[in-house]
Amino acid sequence: MANAERFIVQGLEGKRTLEGELQVLGAKNAVLPLLASAILFKDGIELSNVPLNEDVKRISEILEKMGVVVTVSNPGKLSINTKSIDEKGTIDRELAKKIRASIFLSGPALARFGRVTFPKPGGCVIGARPIDLFIENYEKMGATITTEGDEYVVTTDGKLKGCHIFFPLQSVSATETFLMAAVLAKGKTILENVACEPEVVALAEYLNACGAKIEGAGSSTITITGTGLLSSKGEIAQVIPDRIEAASFLILGALSAKQLKITHCRPSDMRVVIELLRKAGVDIEEGKNSLTVRNNPDKPTQYQGFSFRTHEYPGVPTDIQPQLATFLTQAVGESPVFETIFEGRLNYTTELVRMGANILICDPHRAIVKGPTPLEAEQIDAPDIRAGFAYIIAALLAKGYTTIRNIYYIDRGHEAIESRLQAIGVDIRRVADTPIV
Ligand code: EPU
Repeated sequence: MANAERFIVQGLEGKRTLEGELQVLGAKNAVLPLLASAILFKDGIELSNVPLNEDVKRISEILEKMGVVVTVSNPGKLSINTKSIDEKGTIDRELAKKIRASIFLSGPALARFGRVTFPKPGGCVIGARPIDLFIENYEKMGATITTEGDEYVVTTDGKLKGCHIFFPLQSVSATETFLMAAVLAKGKTILENVACEPEVVALAEYLNACGAKIEGAGSSTITITGTGLLSSKGEIAQVIPDRIEAASFLILGALSAKQLKITHCRPSDMRVVIELLRKAGVDIEEGKNSLTVRNNPDKPTQYQGFSFRTHEYPGVPTDIQPQLATFLTQAVGESPVFETIFEGRLNYTTELVRMGANILICDPHRAIVKGPTPLEAEQIDAPDIRAGFAYIIAALLAKGYTTIRNIYYIDRGHEAIESRLQAIGVDIRRVADTPIV
């Protein structure tokens, strides 16, 4: 998706001079399923620590098209009133095509209205991202699926039926969607081989606090006993800190800062990234809700390379793979990177190579990064949120001014990133694209 804005970033040419504090906002991937869960509620829900990024705005717009009232009050407070929700169960086609997370809405909507229509969702360009697990398992819960044009129409005679679902692979969105659908299903649903990400746990904890019966979230099997519509009774969903944003800041700090304190984060959710960076030689001090990374700018540590493979939680998140690979361009040695989750998620490396990185793509899932290599400024296009952030890091490492286009992708996952980075000394400007006349 093209964007009418770009970032221009002045590189530091490897100098580690940034200084200050960066506050981590609420997790994009925790707030999106929470927003969808509002459909399970008679009255609605309130959320705090909400990042007002573009994905949150898109899901809010889809909810509004369903008759839900979404009210944003600063800082980070959002309330969703579902009292006048439309019973038709239509998920806006055009909006849903822009964002993969729209699929979250299909489960609660089907469970509540007995019917839902939705298109195959869009989103970041990181691979095929099929939705077969959703289609198959709605049928398993008693629904009938037809298609009209490019939309799925899913209906049930009455309530969805609880059943035993074994997922052949761990999918975050399928776990969260079926967990929500099962809250309104008849009887017990057992979900096996589910995702164990902290965002899944946070969703289950909030729904349980509001009357749901969900056991086992955080383990590989979750059991849900259908209860009927929920009521929040004043219970506020506090969005957990964004572990990917925190880890991205940590990598940025390791490569470019004299001292950077990352606050409002949960180090326990990002253990693997902290350990990999420490192994590479990064000086990280851990607090209860903060991480501080330090460098001696006069004698910067030469980091060492390492190999890693992306893995479901608690392994290395695929969402931090591009930022880690960018780190490895500055580390000594040959570092093999194995992206196991998405087959399109190494494509961004071509732009890093244009900037001077030495990266060999072995196949769609494997690359070898050889470092260290100096980077040069370039004009590059962000293909997704995380590679977009990796490009900010690369731009900071480079010599000269790098232009990053398609920054809508970065805005999808990080609220007002440029003003936050400016506060620690980054020279980054948002510039409107000049229309060609
Ligand atoms: N998959 C299928 N069939 C399905 C669903 C998934 O084959 O029906 C496959 C995917 O193609 C992939 C694997 O299962 O190979 C895991 O994908 P998953 O379903 O877990 O991904 P997701 O739920 O669509 C979430 C995050 C992503 C993150 C992945 C993996 C949200 C809103 N999105 O996506 O976040 O990369 O889990 O951890 O939670 C991002 O934040 O930049 C982002 C892309």
